[in-house]
Amino acid sequence: MKREKLALLGGRKAVVTKHEFKWPIITEEEISEVVKIMRKGEISISKVVKEFEQDFAAYHGVKYALAQNNGTAALHSACFAVGVEPGDEVIVPSYTWWATATPILSCNGIPIFCDIDPKTLCADPQDIRRKITPYTKAIIVTHMWGHPCEMDEIMKIAKLYKIAVIEDASHAHGAIYKGRKVGTIGDIGCFSLQGSKPMVAGEGGILITNNQEYYERAVALGHYELINELPSDKYKKYAHTGLGWKYRMHPLAAAIAKVQLKYLDERIEMRRRNLEYLTMGLTGIRGIRPPYTAPYVTRGGWYEYRILYEPEELQGVSRENFIKALQAEGVKIDTERYPLLHLEPLFQERNLYGKGCPWSCLYAKQKVTYQKGDLPVSEKIHSRLMSLPPFTLPCRELLDQYIKAFKKVTENLHQLRQAFL
Ligand SMILES: Cc1ncc(COP(=O)(O)O)c(C=O)c1O
Repeated sequence: MKREKLALLGGRKAVVTKHEFKWPIITEEEISEVVKIMRKGEISISKVVKEFEQDFAAYHGVKYALAQNNGTAALHSACFAVGVEPGDEVIVPSYTWWATATPILSCNGIPIFCDIDPKTLCADPQDIRRKITPYTKAIIVTHMWGHPCEMDEIMKIAKLYKIAVIEDASHAHGAIYKGRKVGTIGDIGCFSLQGSKPMVAGEGGILITNNQEYYERAVALGHYELINELPSDKYKKYAHTGLGWKYRMHPLAAAIAKVQLKYLDERIEMRRRNLEYLTMGLTGIRGIRPPYTAPYVTRGGWYEYRILYEPEELQGVSRENFIKALQAEGVKIDTERYPLLHLEPLFQERNLYGKGCPWSCLYAKQKVTYQKGDLPVSEKIHSRLMSLPPFTLPCRELLDQYIKAFKKVTENLHQLRQAFL
């Protein structure tokens, strides 16, 4: 064991290289495309939105892409498209960003939270199966931090029970599951293009599908301006009003996203090289578990990087003190920033929508409440997660120092225990 004074106790920091976690990467190309649109005066309606949709559909090999003003709108449109109605149940993980689940409420549906796989951090197909009831209308899954969900299992369940699957691919642009791009395996794929995502529009989102009816319903919900261009006449009578939402993408956002898409694969590859190198270096260090990647998937996006803290191997050092020691070494690490949704006041109280809706609406078929202890794997894993940002620009020297910092702290736990006695 190497004895080295921890930086927390006045020793030298392990991480000394300065690094800018610069994201997003915006170049002169995006700037000039935005300026072109501005010069044309196309600041509300522009063909650049359609062009971006066509590029995104071609990248995924799907028939339809519908650009949206954000990812939350894409998910609401998806829930509406597959027919989530008052009282319908939709299975969704609790460990995800809130916008994966709250659009269910926008359709007056009832989220039924499912547990996660402790290795991939994605929705656990076994638990999805357990949560199916006669009232289940859809399943929404998130490809967490770029790792694709176990889609074959999920699609099998969906087929068996004749329910729809919505993929939230907002962390995982360009990720591949057994040869198929995420977002194309379920009935609908939704992506956020918000400014921190693996490809950005500033604020924006996009929905993809091969299903004409789902596409038409999504258009009818939030894009009155496109209704007259729909392939069928079904929704044309609503062309003046749509269904009351306005979800179209800003042309300047589309101009940015169109350029970003061209560089997506290259930038994912840059992250992959860094993060696989980091994972290799962290593998085998006592007390931590770097992210797992199933052999038949290619992570995409790598939105952020998660490490598990293993208290059984860290001899009485709490996650918070472990993190403090790493931060003192110069590591940009923190606890998990996403709360578990089932424990949030919105779901615990279930009254923000007024009169207890949708849980107590006329159509709710069974009483649904959310308790601590409902999702043992999510709750255990969540209390152990530690987050690092993605490293995009080449930074081997820095990554070596990060690996050294983890080794230094775990090899000198006795100092930490004494410091926090
Ligand atoms: C998994 C996931 N889903 C949905 C969203 C919502 O996207 P937006 O912020 O573009 O509305 C986000 C954004 O952080 C997300 O991380």
